[in-house]
Amino acid sequence: MLKGKKILLGITGSIAAYKSAFLLRLLVKEGAEVQVVITPAGKQFITPVTLAALSGKPVLSEFFENADGTWHSHVDLGLWADLLLVAPASASTMGKMANAVCDNLLITTYLSAKCPVMIAPAMDLDMYRHPANQKNIGILRDFGATIIEPASGELASGLSGKGRLQEPEEILMRVKELFNHPEKKKSLAGKKLLVTAGPTYENIDPVRFIGNYSSGKMGFAIAAELAQRGAEVVLVTGPVQLSTPHSGIQRIDVTSALEMEEACLKIFPECHGAVFSAAVSDYAPEQVSPVKMKRVADEMTLHLKANPDIAARMGLLKREGQVTVGFALETHDEENHAQGKLKSKNFDFIVLNSPNNPGEGFMSDTNRVAIIDKNHVRQDFPLKSKKEVAVDIVDALGRWLIQP
Ligand code: C5P
Repeated sequence: MLKGKKILLGITGSIAAYKSAFLLRLLVKEGAEVQVVITPAGKQFITPVTLAALSGKPVLSEFFENADGTWHSHVDLGLWADLLLVAPASASTMGKMANAVCDNLLITTYLSAKCPVMIAPAMDLDMYRHPANQKNIGILRDFGATIIEPASGELASGLSGKGRLQEPEEILMRVKELFNHPEKKKSLAGKKLLVTAGPTYENIDPVRFIGNYSSGKMGFAIAAELAQRGAEVVLVTGPVQLSTPHSGIQRIDVTSALEMEEACLKIFPECHGAVFSAAVSDYAPEQVSPVKMKRVADEMTLHLKANPDIAARMGLLKREGQVTVGFALETHDEENHAQGKLKSKNFDFIVLNSPNNPGEGFMSDTNRVAIIDKNHVRQDFPLKSKKEVAVDIVDALGRWLIQP
């Protein structure tokens, strides 16, 4: 799938450098021609012998070969490549790239390269979060590089944070996406989109709530896909255990349906569209007890009042040209219910999924969906990862955004 593609793989001084051997193998297996450029610090973590054997090419690191004075031209390397992929990228290398500090071959190559640049940061979690490092990442992104967000791990404080190198398989997927769908890359630039995700919690008293098992994974995957295509994304999410998957996403954390509605009312009018993937609680306790409720009798009754239907409310406010997408999770008579919701909530299309089949729905990483649009056109998709489903949904949304 990467046959004939010329990739410069930049490796830097991060403990994750051992993973770049796996990444290199995956790239070569896909048919790519890979030239490794390693920084001096990188060589402390992985030996060039391994990398040369896997790539089938001598590894480059210095400007000159000490033995015979051969000069390695960073200009030629930069022109040769179809992609410069720096993985792992240390804080130091990113700092130098952002500020043109050309003290090794990898940085000079970056400055000469005319090809797309992908950077997969890897470092200690506190280092990753440091404003100096975040600023450099921001600069590199502004220069047009695609940052492959690191994975989550544990901070010394016990809290979780990001910094771990993304898995080689995930990086490979991103590289393939770049080559296979270059036109998609920034196709949603200039578009602002609202995404709701996760469950809502409706308080009963200070320690109890009514909630649901929504993980937020589908909405987060959609937000990430939109941001990857250049859209400005506002993600309004209920309580979830997920980190923001892309720095192009503005995240607003809310707890209850009322808070989610308030955020949406503010943001939706400025948006070109919205995806309502949150599992909003239909009802909330009529009154929230200010103190923890005691067990007093064998039975108790909780009075509930209906929550606002956020999607329906935005559907009423919807302007000409705004595109809205909803979800329907139905256990029976699914097509009819989905059609009903398309109309009542004024969606352009609805994503139908059924919780009846294994591997579909709330907690799972996979989903099987059908997309039904307001013109009654139905498209059925096979069981896929939620990230792949997000691609299908954003493809459909992209079409509606361009042709009203
Ligand atoms: O009516 P139902 O809850 O099945 O509708 C699902 C769709 O409506 C989803 O897109 C969901 O995000 C949205 N919704 C909402 N506010 C509610 C209930 C549902 O935005 N209170």
